[in-house]
Amino acid sequence: MGKKITLRLLFVIALLVLGNVGVKAKARKFSSEINRKLKLLNKPAIKSIKSEDGDIIDCIDIYKQPAFDHPALKNHKIEMRPSISFPSDTTTTAKNETSLPVLSQIWHKSGSCPTGTIPQAAYLLATGDSYIGARGFINVWNPRVQSPDEYTTAQIWLKNGSVVTFESIEAGWMVNPKLFSDTQPRLFIRWTLDGYQKTGCINHICSGFVQTSQYYGLGIAFQPTSQKGGKQFGVDFRINQDPNQRRWWLSLKDDVIGYWPLEIFNSLQQKAQIVQWGGYVYSKNVKGVTPHTTTAMGSGDFASGLWGSACFILNVRIVDDSLQLKYPKSVQGYTEEPDCYSALNNQTNPALEPIFYFGGPGRGPNCP
Ligand SMILES: *[C@@H]1O[C@H](CO)[C@@H](O)[C@H](O)[C@H]1NC(C)=O
Ligand SMILES: *[C@@H]1O[C@H](CO)[C@@H](O)[C@H](O)[C@H]1NC(C)=O
Ligand SMILES: *[C@@H]1O[C@H](CO)[C@@H](O)[C@H](O)[C@H]1NC(C)=O
Repeated sequence: MGKKITLRLLFVIALLVLGNVGVKAKARKFSSEINRKLKLLNKPAIKSIKSEDGDIIDCIDIYKQPAFDHPALKNHKIEMRPSISFPSDTTTTAKNETSLPVLSQIWHKSGSCPTGTIPQAAYLLATGDSYIGARGFINVWNPRVQSPDEYTTAQIWLKNGSVVTFESIEAGWMVNPKLFSDTQPRLFIRWTLDGYQKTGCINHICSGFVQTSQYYGLGIAFQPTSQKGGKQFGVDFRINQDPNQRRWWLSLKDDVIGYWPLEIFNSLQQKAQIVQWGGYVYSKNVKGVTPHTTTAMGSGDFASGLWGSACFILNVRIVDDSLQLKYPKSVQGYTEEPDCYSALNNQTNPALEPIFYFGGPGRGPNCP
């Protein structure tokens, strides 16, 4: 019995070869901010496990996770599960080529705040309603990232506010060589209160997100990845607000990962008024800066490549006040640089489930 309780309290959190990141950070002239954050993250491990990939996974007390460095979470009591079961989807079926990936226990904890560079996005946008949940089955690829300080994502955003100073809750996969010291697509979350101006960063690098899963942590790598013309893999991302506690929970299919506590938000303590599904490339070399980055979005192919070539998001869903899971009433595809990254919501027939395709190679014949 005693042993069982101890095990339950063990909490797999983060790994990272601190020395490694320290050296890299210095090399790139990131100094005090990152070092301060790494120090903050240097939690005492109860147990360390070396994964097959050579990553070191530290198990720490669930109450010592980085979330609780957030001043608003001083007396926070962890909930291990949402207070209700979230609405489930009975109407749709995934294509039979898709299957859940094996989630490997690879896990890093470093990260950086996205300041000073301009992101590029291609996404499907739902507005005109209030949302307390969003879902999507996100196809997983392993796109090219040109340089270590750039990254690429496929994700869901729940937002509220203006274009410049929005609050957002985000989750998806990301290839981010600086953050993860490799080029695999990995689970990330992010949140901000002000369009990333002063707040917001990825995974556990800043405090706030409370992880409750003992099995799947932020930063896990998704394997295998999809191949052109071959088998497609993906992950079912679900973000749901608990209507009683108003925490925003993240699950991968039915596996609960953790939650964003309401204390860290302002208007997102209520509802979100914008939901987006799609991709995001973070680089200085976008929007007219030449040469354009060659960091790819999605699979690296344009949305017009469709199934087996372009990255897709299937089973796009929102939850509104009715607590039901629905396809959004009105959606629109957007992209800022259509010659570099594109977006296409493909519905061949009104009776069929639309499939949202997005992505592109970055620099190319029409994207110099
Ligand atoms: C589903 O599987 C069947 C038989 O394996 C195959 O014939 C069909 O093309 C597949 N459908 C899709 C959408 O891939
Ligand atoms: C944010 O959401 C709340 C409701 O959840 C709404 O009343 C408010 O106007 C929104 N704020 C902005 C800036 O859109
Ligand atoms: C949507 O996909 C179908 C094939 O699945 C294709 O025939 C059609 O042209 C696509 N629509 C658009 C707008 O690309």
